[in-house]
Amino acid sequence: MGVLNGKTALVTGGNSGIGLAAAKLFAENGAQVIITGRRQENLDAAVAEIGHNALALRGDVADLAHHDHVAREVRERLGALDIYFANAGMIVTTHSSQVGVEEFDAQFATNARGVFFGVQKIAPLLRDGGSIILTSSIASQKVLENHAVYAGTKAAIEAFARSWALEFKERGIRVNVLSPGPVDTPIIGKMGVTKEVRASFDAELAKAIPLGRLGRAEELARAALFLASDASSFVTGANIPVDGGIALT
Ligand SMILES: NC(=O)c1ccc[n+]([C@@H]2O[C@H](COP(=O)([O-])OP(=O)(O)OC[C@H]3O[C@@H](n4cnc5c(N)ncnc54)[C@H](OP(=O)(O)O)[C@@H]3O)[C@@H](O)[C@H]2O)c1
Repeated sequence: MGVLNGKTALVTGGNSGIGLAAAKLFAENGAQVIITGRRQENLDAAVAEIGHNALALRGDVADLAHHDHVAREVRERLGALDIYFANAGMIVTTHSSQVGVEEFDAQFATNARGVFFGVQKIAPLLRDGGSIILTSSIASQKVLENHAVYAGTKAAIEAFARSWALEFKERGIRVNVLSPGPVDTPIIGKMGVTKEVRASFDAELAKAIPLGRLGRAEELARAALFLASDASSFVTGANIPVDGGIALT
């Protein structure tokens, strides 16, 4: 029981990292949660970890048919949604001079197109007064080496959010962005940081973060819970950094 009692929530990328932490916290706070992701094994493990009758749907957010499938399943299983957390994302870091079109398109297809059409297709299922939360990154504002394409995808998400905050206002649906700084999730390994160098990578990164450490997925989840719940009932079109202060440096 908790602040999301009786609510339904869908978390994309809910089988790992920030999405998994948010799905757990939403469920602990009373929501019926559905998670999505591509890896079935991780979805199964996440459903077991979340408990509270959580459900999982497999698919690729870059594929528009996936969102149609998710919308059908949500309608059949839950009827409607209160919270849509469009969180799934990927990153490849490359100097712009070396970025190929496939790498460019993959990041835009997952991070920008996936969020855009996910919201377009799920919005009709959202109850009036619902909450849409998008995961961006401080990389959209702060220039980070080799992050140009990723930063562009996240800047697009932030622009979508500002438009949607006004487009959904008649329905009382709030649209907000979470901008994480460096957070300790599996995405760091996916960026090519090996176990061997991980400790020194973290230590070096921590020096650049005013609070002196990487964030934890649970800390992002708490900010997502704020945006999902009535605690943020007068907040829309906002972009909340949860970044240990790194955007200030
Ligand atoms: N961790 C950080 O330092 C950090 C900083 C700023 C922003 N972010 C953003 O935070 C969000 C969550 O990342 P995370 O750190 O929690 O990383 P993560 O642990 O790697 O989680 C990424 C999630 O997205 C899913 N995903 C990726 N591509 C997908 C696709 N094409 N279709 C469906 N699902 C897909 C993954 O599941 P599958 O692989 O099973 O599909 C996974 O559940 C991302 O949008 C990321 O850009 C993270």
